[in-house]
Amino acid sequence: MKTVVASIVALASAASVMSRPNPVGVLSREYAGGIYGKLGPAPPKRATGVQYFGVNIAGFDFGCATDASETSLVYPPLSALGGPDGEGQMSHFVNDNSMNIFRLPVGWQFLVNNQLGGVLDSGNFNQFDQLVKACLGTGATCIIDIHNYARWNGEIIGQGGPSNDEFANLWGQLAAKYASEEKIMFGLMNEPHDVPDIDAWAESVQAAVNAIRQAETEASGSAHTILIPGNDWTSAAPFPTKSGPTLLNVVNPDNTTTGLVFDVHKYSDIDNSGTHTDCTTDNISTAFAPLADWLRTNNRQAINTEMGGGNTESCQKFLCDQIAYLNENADVYLGYVGWSAGSFDPQTYELSEVPTKNGDTWTDSALVQACFKKAA
Ligand SMILES: *[C@@H]1O[C@H](CO)[C@@H](O)[C@H](O)[C@H]1NC(C)=O
Ligand SMILES: *[C@@H]1O[C@H](CO)[C@@H](O)[C@H](O)[C@H]1NC(C)=O
Repeated sequence: MKTVVASIVALASAASVMSRPNPVGVLSREYAGGIYGKLGPAPPKRATGVQYFGVNIAGFDFGCATDASETSLVYPPLSALGGPDGEGQMSHFVNDNSMNIFRLPVGWQFLVNNQLGGVLDSGNFNQFDQLVKACLGTGATCIIDIHNYARWNGEIIGQGGPSNDEFANLWGQLAAKYASEEKIMFGLMNEPHDVPDIDAWAESVQAAVNAIRQAETEASGSAHTILIPGNDWTSAAPFPTKSGPTLLNVVNPDNTTTGLVFDVHKYSDIDNSGTHTDCTTDNISTAFAPLADWLRTNNRQAINTEMGGGNTESCQKFLCDQIAYLNENADVYLGYVGWSAGSFDPQTYELSEVPTKNGDTWTDSALVQACFKKAA
């Protein structure tokens, strides 16, 4: 969730970074050797369009401020935990809309009950795990999203805040928990922003990737897709020239990039902040087309894990156009995930994609009805 306009910070010169030849960043069963040979079945390829589309199921991230200061406003999107019926929402989206992916944001502090570097808190983790299990129960793929803006209580990972080991330790524990669940993706970090040193950030990301791959191997589990976020609120537009060149160098332990997919966001309101109900752009020419070219050049893929707008005519137009573009460029765009359903109040939240239930019938928000459908 974005509440602040993306800011551009000075970054290390991209020119100094060597990019290496990479295989396309999708999981392949053909990959010989190592745990990557044990990948689960890929979902059936859609006839046309991206492989994955769905929405965020927010609530376990409520209170996560953009400086990742500690808060305790978690509002689980689970009836069993006193919140809205996120499980019912996901079942509806799968059954009635053919969605096949959900992103499940959660705060780092919540998972470890404020103990930086500590073990997953059994009570809190168990609550979040109920949402993960509900998601998996629908048959969809589920993204675990640490919604911390590259920070813990205002301090940046590896750059004055948590050490890379503490960040990697969190991911090692999560990977161990879900090692045998094939339909999980690991979203390393929501919207890093104002991160001063992109080289250092790439090292933090690499530490998390290493920890995940090690935990998967130790558990004889599946290799999972890992979503790699850049700086600038993971904005799609600056990625090819700012964070992308450096993050190309993040690799698996065997030096491949199999399963390492870039994570980007884009909002279509006037300042790209995702806070206005009217939209002014599809951001194709300024963001998604240049990024598609860059991804093709580097033989990589990206997924858009946050996009959205108000339930207004302007947003229906611009969002539908943007989604159509992603579907037409499905060789480099793995999917898109709308912001947001889950625990938001559909009556008051500007960017609500929360369906409402009347009797046994679910009704989608206008934007979901208009734009979030299987590519024809
Ligand atoms: C990966 O690349 C590094 C640096 O080039 C090299 O030192 C290492 O041996 C390589 N590892 C494998 C498994 O090929
Ligand atoms: C999104 O598109 C609008 C209109 O084309 C443009 O003004 C804006 O700069 C774009 N945003 C980014 C970050 O590319």
